[in-house]
Amino acid sequence: MTETVLNEDVAEGVRQITMNRPDRRNALDRATYQGLIDALAAADADAGVRAIVLTGAGGCFTSGNDIKDFAAAAATGVGARIAIDFLGAISTTKKPIVAAVEGFAVGIGTTMLLHCDLAFAGKGASFRLPFVALGLCPEGGSSYLLPLIAGSKRAAELLMLGEVFSPEVAQEAGLLNAVTEAGEALPLAVEKAKALAALPPQSVALTKMLLKRGSAAATAETIATEARHFGERLMSAEAQAAFAAFLMKR
Ligand code: COA
Repeated sequence: MTETVLNEDVAEGVRQITMNRPDRRNALDRATYQGLIDALAAADADAGVRAIVLTGAGGCFTSGNDIKDFAAAAATGVGARIAIDFLGAISTTKKPIVAAVEGFAVGIGTTMLLHCDLAFAGKGASFRLPFVALGLCPEGGSSYLLPLIAGSKRAAELLMLGEVFSPEVAQEAGLLNAVTEAGEALPLAVEKAKALAALPPQSVALTKMLLKRGSAAATAETIATEARHFGERLMSAEAQAAFAAFLMKR
C-alpha cells in the first residue's frame, strides 16, 4: 500500500514530511492524520533532526479533511478526534516546522500554517477556509490565532465568507513569510530549514517555546472549544447536506 505520509531526510538535520495522497489532493483521512502525528513525534524524538519541512505531493499542499470521513461521521459516530489529535501534535512540536505550499491549501490545510514557524507558498497557490459554507465552524485555533495575526476584519472575511484567497493575501494576513515563483516554495523552505538546522538546537527550541508561550494556553483552549462545536456541526443536517453535495459533485 502507498504510504500516505512520506518521511525523508533531505539535508543534514532536515526531515521532510510529505502528505502523499495526490489523487485525492492530499485530503487527510484517518491514516494520513495518524501518519502525520507519528512523523512529528518521530522528528521531535530524533536528536539528528533539527528542523522539519512540511509539504504535499503532486503540486498540492492539502485539500483538508477527507470529506468522505466527514460524511461518514453521522453514521459511524466517529467525529474529528484524529484531526484534533493532529492539531495538538503540530501545535506542540518542539522543533521548528517550515511549511512549503504549492497548489491547494484548504481548511485544515490553511489552519495548520498557523502552527508552523515559517511558511512559504508558490505563486498560484490557493487558500480557503470553507468551514461556514460546509455547515461547520472554525478549527485549529483559527478563531483565536487568525484575528490575532490578521486583524478581526480580515479574519472575519476569511473565516465567515470563506472565499478562495491568493498567496499574496495569505502573506498579508500573516500566514506566510514569503511568496515564491511557482514551484520554488519547497527549495526555499528546505534552505530555511537548513539554516535553522545549522543553529544551536537548544537555543532554537528555547526561542520557539518563548515565541509560543504567550499564546499557548489560549491556543490549546481554543482548539478544544472549537472541537466541541465542530463535532456537533459535523452531525448537523446542514453539514451532511454540504458533504453529500461535494461527493455527488453538485
Ligand atoms: N475529501 C475527499 N475527497 C477529496 C477532497 C477532500 N477534501 N478534495 C479532493 N477530493 C477528491 C475529489 O472528490 C476528486 O475525486 P475523484 O477523482 O474521485 O472525482 C479528487 O480528489 C480530485 O479532486 P478535484 O475536485 O477533481 O480536483 P480539483 O483540482 O478540480 O479541485 C479542490 C481541488 C481542492 C479545490 C477541490 O477538490 C475541493 O474543493 N476539495 C474539497 C476541499 C474541502 O472542502 N475540504 C474540507 C475543508 S473543511
